[in-house]
Amino acid sequence: MILEKRIVIDLNDHDSSWLIPWKQEAPDGYVGEYQSTILMAEGPHREYSVTDSIMCAKRPEQTEDEASAFSHAHKNGFETFFVDSGWMYLYVDGRKCRVTPGDIIHLQPGQQHAMAFMEDVKYRGFFHDLNSLDFAEIAQHLKDKMPEAAADPEFQRVRGEVGGMDMILRERPVYKDAPVEEVRAVRNPDRPYASYEFPGCTVKVITTRWENAGVNEMICAQLKKGVKVSWNPYPRERELYYVRHGLAEFTVYGEKHIAKEGCIVNIPRFAPHSLVTLKDCEIYDMGGKPYWFAFLQDYEAIRTYAPERLEKPETLTELRKKFGVEVSGVSFAG
Ligand SMILES: [Fe+2]
Repeated sequence: MILEKRIVIDLNDHDSSWLIPWKQEAPDGYVGEYQSTILMAEGPHREYSVTDSIMCAKRPEQTEDEASAFSHAHKNGFETFFVDSGWMYLYVDGRKCRVTPGDIIHLQPGQQHAMAFMEDVKYRGFFHDLNSLDFAEIAQHLKDKMPEAAADPEFQRVRGEVGGMDMILRERPVYKDAPVEEVRAVRNPDRPYASYEFPGCTVKVITTRWENAGVNEMICAQLKKGVKVSWNPYPRERELYYVRHGLAEFTVYGEKHIAKEGCIVNIPRFAPHSLVTLKDCEIYDMGGKPYWFAFLQDYEAIRTYAPERLEKPETLTELRKKFGVEVSGVSFAG
């Protein structure tokens, strides 16, 4: 079963996880990027689309500005990149800033962006409304079956015509240097949009609905060791988590899966599941279907203005239902 093999995907294990490897190689052999598709896009908003890349350090003889010449924007697509090793410069909104591990880049349609990679960077991309992975799987299949056809310029031309890649090439950016804290395209759990405290758990809002055309939103849950999270028996939406730090045991379909640092947890809809943290964890909800921010804001409002309402269990039950939150309970032994 394909589904079962792809529940926990370890991005640091390229042999088992990189599905459609690709590299950007110059005629002289310099490789700019090693990339692989991890999950394919689905549905009208091309969601659950994930790639993993090693963006290679710029050529030593290049200045960083020369290395950043690939300036572009997308008409409809949203890109979210986790920078998980190395460091880079990002040119965005007429500014240039230094991006380091822990940072998350969130780019919206029309936003000009360019990058210069100063070291090899682990660059984990989550996309929606972007057609970059369309045809990747079937083009790979053609390559496996008929390498000569896949290399045929006529095929490349046809694929380009049909695909109509959502990419607008832009001029080299004119910029001012800026501290990363002042660049809104760069997010970091240390500078969340909002943050909410619970026993054993801090929930941080990283991107909002209105920064994702209403399609999804991203929260980061920082969970202490020993937190147990349970979900409703048959959750209505597919879920996608990124374990950026820590160690967690997910139980899916009654079977245990260990997710360590750098793992994606890909849970099919209707699959009964739960998790327990085996170490302190930082886990991101990359599916973003629950209206987390609204739920957290209203929960905080009730906790602040009318805490007696929380004594009735139906208050929380109704709030979860209203905002599509399928988490049914969180407990902390510590
Ligand atoms: Fe882009």
